[in-house]
Amino acid sequence: MGFFNWAAPAFNRLADRWSPESLDQIAGWLRPYVGPDGRLLDVGGGTGALARRLARELRADVVVLDPTPEMLAYVPDEPGVSALLGLAEEIPLEDSSVDAVLVSDAFHHFRDQRGAVREFARVVRPGGGVVVLELDPRPWYMRVIVAVEKLLGEPGAFFTPDGMCAFMAEHGIEGRCEPVKGPAYRFTGTLR
Ligand SMILES: C[S@@+](CC[C@H](N)C(=O)[O-])C[C@H]1O[C@@H](n2cnc3c(N)ncnc32)[C@H](O)[C@@H]1O
Repeated sequence: MGFFNWAAPAFNRLADRWSPESLDQIAGWLRPYVGPDGRLLDVGGGTGALARRLARELRADVVVLDPTPEMLAYVPDEPGVSALLGLAEEIPLEDSSVDAVLVSDAFHHFRDQRGAVREFARVVRPGGGVVVLELDPRPWYMRVIVAVEKLLGEPGAFFTPDGMCAFMAEHGIEGRCEPVKGPAYRFTGTLR
C-alpha cells in the first residue's frame, strides 16, 4: 500500500492550507488560460481542497485527477468539481480537452515525469497553460524532506526552477519560474 493510501485521512485534515491571498495568486496565474466555464485539470489533486476553491474563484470546471482512491474519496460533491481516477502518466482524457493543467505539490511524486509532461502537452489545448507549484531541493533542509519522502517509498524527485523550465521546454511548454515563499516556486508555461 502506498503512502497516500494510508495517509489520506491525515492529509485531508491539512489539505486546505491556502490563505485568501495565496488562492488569489494561484487563480491569477490560471485566469489567462481558464475563463468562466473553462476546464482546468488538477493533476495529483488529492482531496480536491484546492480544486474546490479554484472552481468557485474561476467559475470554471475543475477535474481532480489522482491515482489514489482514498484521496479522491474526499473530493467534494459540488458543482464545478469532479474526481477522475488515473495517473499523470496516462491521463484518461481526450487530446486538447482542457484549458490548463495545475500540479500542486505533486510533480515530485510522479514516477515517470517525462511521460507526465508528454501527457500535459497532449491534453492541454494549443495556447493553454501549465502551472506547477513545487519546492526547490537546494536548501539544506530540503535534503531532509527528500530523504523522508524516499523512506516513505515516494520518488522525492524534485527539480530546481531552472531544471523545471528546461524540462518543460523539451516538451513544447515554454515558461518561467518565480519564487513563491521559502523553497516554494511556481512554473507557469504556455503550450506552443
Ligand atoms: C502531496 S499530495 C498533493 C495533493 C494536492 N495537489 C495538494 O496540493 O494538496 C500528492 C498527490 O499526488 C498524487 N500522485 C502520486 N503519484 C501520482 C501520479 N503518478 N499521477 C498523479 N497523481 C499522483 C498522490 O496520490 C497525492 O494525492
